[in-house]
Amino acid sequence: MSVPSATDAAPRDGAAREAVPERDADRDLTASLLRWVLPRSLFGRAVMIIVTPLLLLQVVATWVFYDSHWETVTRRLAAGVAGDIASVVELMQLARDPSAYEKIFAIAREKMQLEIELRPDELLPNDAVVVRETLVDRKLANALTDIVQRPFRIDSRSLEKQIEVHLQLPQGVLRVIAPRRRLFSSTTYVFILWMVGTSLALFAVAALFMRSQVRPIRRLAAAADAFGKGHNVPDFKLEGADEVRQAGAAFNQMRERIQRQITQRTEMLAGVSHDLRTPLTRMKLELAMLPNTSELAELKADVAEMEKMVEGYLAFARGEGTEQPEPADLGRLLRDVVTNAAREGAIIELKAEGPMPVNIRPDAMRRCLTNLIANARRHARRIAIEADYNGSAIEVLVDDDGPGIPPAMREEVFKPFFRLDSSRNPATGGIGLGLTIARDVMRGHGGELTLAQSPLGGLRAVMRLPV
Ligand SMILES: Nc1ncnc2c1ncn2[C@@H]1O[C@H](COP(=O)(O)OP(=O)(O)OP(=O)(O)O)[C@@H](O)[C@H]1O
Ligand SMILES: [Mg+2]
Repeated sequence: MSVPSATDAAPRDGAAREAVPERDADRDLTASLLRWVLPRSLFGRAVMIIVTPLLLLQVVATWVFYDSHWETVTRRLAAGVAGDIASVVELMQLARDPSAYEKIFAIAREKMQLEIELRPDELLPNDAVVVRETLVDRKLANALTDIVQRPFRIDSRSLEKQIEVHLQLPQGVLRVIAPRRRLFSSTTYVFILWMVGTSLALFAVAALFMRSQVRPIRRLAAAADAFGKGHNVPDFKLEGADEVRQAGAAFNQMRERIQRQITQRTEMLAGVSHDLRTPLTRMKLELAMLPNTSELAELKADVAEMEKMVEGYLAFARGEGTEQPEPADLGRLLRDVVTNAAREGAIIELKAEGPMPVNIRPDAMRRCLTNLIANARRHARRIAIEADYNGSAIEVLVDDDGPGIPPAMREEVFKPFFRLDSSRNPATGGIGLGLTIARDVMRGHGGELTLAQSPLGGLRAVMRLPV
């Protein structure tokens, strides 16, 4: 028994496996549909969560009320009016003498609020249609059929505040005008008005309450964003719901830890570099005293390189140190750096239009730019810089017409002391910290530095800086 079921299961399994991606696609579709329908903001969603059940409840309540209460009330009111009309008709039958009709009509006017008039010898048109449009019309028609039992016609349109009923009697057509309020229960509208009114009031209260709940989350997001861009952010003031306070406290702790780590790293780097400088200087002095040989020349070159590396580290460490971000115009900084480079003989062309206001550490940013320009000058002849400000970010492209860097190496060159030409030939490179520092500066501003192929033929460095 188990054997055939096992063989049966195999194809079914396969079918199930095939069906899975379809179901996934379905789920993706529903998810994206939901995302499209749902409000995007937390505020909108929270208000919706409060308001949707409320509205549903009210609709259901109104529905039930409308169905049972309003219908019953309207039926009874219609029966009342129909009863009055029937009484008038009966009285007319009893009176026999048409001269008494006026008296009956007068009583009806006074006691029943019915305006009645007899049009003798008239006939209701044969196709006398009952206007069955509204609930009131329908109920009145039913009541007239049941109680009065005469051919009739209802006109609830012609008069604004009254309803007209035409009855076929043997004597002619009886025209009855009843005030609408005898047939209408205005409490329904009062009820709906109350529903809508309380809903609006509740919505307003919910919106106010939610707004104050969402505000700290927005503030936290802004603080995290600013911190990510390397700005100085004050301690996040804890407020709002417990969860938001928790997130805020976690953010404050994280910020402190990151800041402590950065300080530690910087201090250590600066300390080590500084301490290495003294023995290096001593070595240089000692080497200078020795007689000149070829081995000594190599040793001197090594010491010189070590010194340069230490200087590089120190420059790196200093950059991270104490400089604070301040509002600046990146366009002006660019023009400044480019002018300096041109003065030193660089062939460099700059395209940067309009002011580019941004919060930066000016010295660090200047170092980043000069490092990129120094690289381009070392490897290429022509340099072109273009800066673009699109409202949310600034993009600076540094292009050159040199040999470029093969795609596979474009990440490698960011590693400290990494050089494409490993011969340590000073003509093809320095100590290998330039790009490391430049990227570090960009990331410290919440931005990014990447390398690409330049349309000029060489390397393109892309600096992206969020504003
Ligand atoms: N514009 C460029 N064109 C071609 N190769 C480049 C370019 N810029 C950098 N490189 C390559 O990337 C390597 C790393 O550059 P990086 O700026 O980090 O160090 P460096 O220029 O060698 O030394 P430093 O900048 O510290 O004096 C360079 O050695 C060079 O091989
Ligand atoms: Mg360099």
